[in-house]
Amino acid sequence: MKVLSVASEAYPLIKTGGLADVAGALPAALSAFGVDMRVLLPAYPAVMAKISKPRKSIPLPKLLGAEARLWQVKAEGIDWFLLDAPDLFNRTGGPYVDASGQDYGDNWRRFAAFSKAAALIAEGAVEQWKPDLVHMHDWQAALAPLYLAQGPAAGMPTVMTVHNLAFQGQYGADIFAGLELDSSAFSLDGLEYYGDVCYLKAGMLWANAITTVSPTYAQEIRTPEFGMGLDGVVNARADDLYGIVNGIDTDVWNPATDPHIAENYDLSRRTARKANRKALVERFELDPRHKGPIFTVVSRLTWQKGMDLLVETVDDIVAMGGRLAILGSGDRALEGALLGAAARHRGRVGMVLGYNEPLSHLMQAGGDAILVPSRFEPCGLTQLYGLRYGCVPVVAHTGGLADTVIDANEAALAAGAATGFHFGQVTADALRRAVHRTVRAFEDKKTWALIQKQGMKADVSWERSALRYTDIYKNLIKK
Ligand code: ADP
Ligand code: GLC
Repeated sequence: MKVLSVASEAYPLIKTGGLADVAGALPAALSAFGVDMRVLLPAYPAVMAKISKPRKSIPLPKLLGAEARLWQVKAEGIDWFLLDAPDLFNRTGGPYVDASGQDYGDNWRRFAAFSKAAALIAEGAVEQWKPDLVHMHDWQAALAPLYLAQGPAAGMPTVMTVHNLAFQGQYGADIFAGLELDSSAFSLDGLEYYGDVCYLKAGMLWANAITTVSPTYAQEIRTPEFGMGLDGVVNARADDLYGIVNGIDTDVWNPATDPHIAENYDLSRRTARKANRKALVERFELDPRHKGPIFTVVSRLTWQKGMDLLVETVDDIVAMGGRLAILGSGDRALEGALLGAAARHRGRVGMVLGYNEPLSHLMQAGGDAILVPSRFEPCGLTQLYGLRYGCVPVVAHTGGLADTVIDANEAALAAGAATGFHFGQVTADALRRAVHRTVRAFEDKKTWALIQKQGMKADVSWERSALRYTDIYKNLIKK
């Protein structure tokens, strides 16, 4: 079974968030079930810098007016098609934003062209490798089924995975003329959305199946509260909607072999976490004599992630006897507020501003508890890394966080099932109470060890979820 996965980022070639982790992990996870998955990715400069020869050049026709070709290359164990369209992707800055953090003004064109390239591969642009199915990730790939429908590969099955309904690819109707789609696509059954153009809506309507990254989020997005204006579309497709929880790459995230941490360990050698804790304390200039738990945060600093609640709670976390190590970047105001908290609480709160993959590993290996106070969270990966590394997750009860962490209530503790702490309402008060519970549990060494060990035993691999994707592919290809 040949599947083309279409993703605007994929680890380890380019990453801004969890989408990259998932897109980079799926090919290996699925190959165990007989799926030959190849990944279409834009050839950003950062990507090309990581690719060595041999690579094969495959010509493409112009995409929305831009010269384009594909590089076919095997790297990091993955078969890639890299869309090389210099006008669109050869830029300084990130995949979506320029060096000053502003969205590129032509993102609509960049990712429409990207989606169109997927359709061309489906139509046979690559000799000897024509997919049986196209699997799109997020709005950047969402127009692929529309381009497919108007070409010779019409009818090829497609799967649309929604990693975050908040990002939809919505633009004014004036861009429609530049998309090279049949005029019929600008309709209620196509990409028209209240007079605008909405890529994700089109992908969700036109794909044969829709998946999202946890069962709870799949339910949540059917409601106005979480539906981001698309709950009507989600409900219209409810029969073809699947919530499949993400796994993690257990080779990349393995405390027993992780090259980014101070000392390797596993369930039977948890005491070796001490060396990592020490390294973390040094890196964040925390007070080494202090006895309280170290809470870590590895996150985009945004409203979605509840980082404003963290700002509100920092003083209390310190007052309750915790220390805090924060790694992240995002909203300028939140960055400033957290840096301010670190300055106010020297030795108790440390902050590293920016994106740092190796350090994010050390934080899981050396921290005691990882805080994830998200207002909504389609899946969330840092709590899964926390489980595997024995960094106990303290999470908001929403989306994938609710599905992957078992709250240490009395029943769960008695049953030996608890793996972390939940708080129901996403408010500063609820976060405070959860931190308080965590600090108390930390003081009780036996309870803490129980929770930590149970988390480390949790199955966070891709195995079960990869099987579910495979089943969906199979059923669609059969039809
Ligand atoms: P999202 O994709 O919504 O940001 P996820 O929890 O799914 O949230 O994935 C975030 C990914 O990005 C994780 O792999 C996490 O470790 C990583 N990450 C987030 N912020 C940073 C940072 N500042 N430095 C390094 N890694 C980070
Ligand atoms: C999105 C979501 C996050 C999820 C990730 C990977 O970025 O915000 O919750 O874990 O995609 O699916």
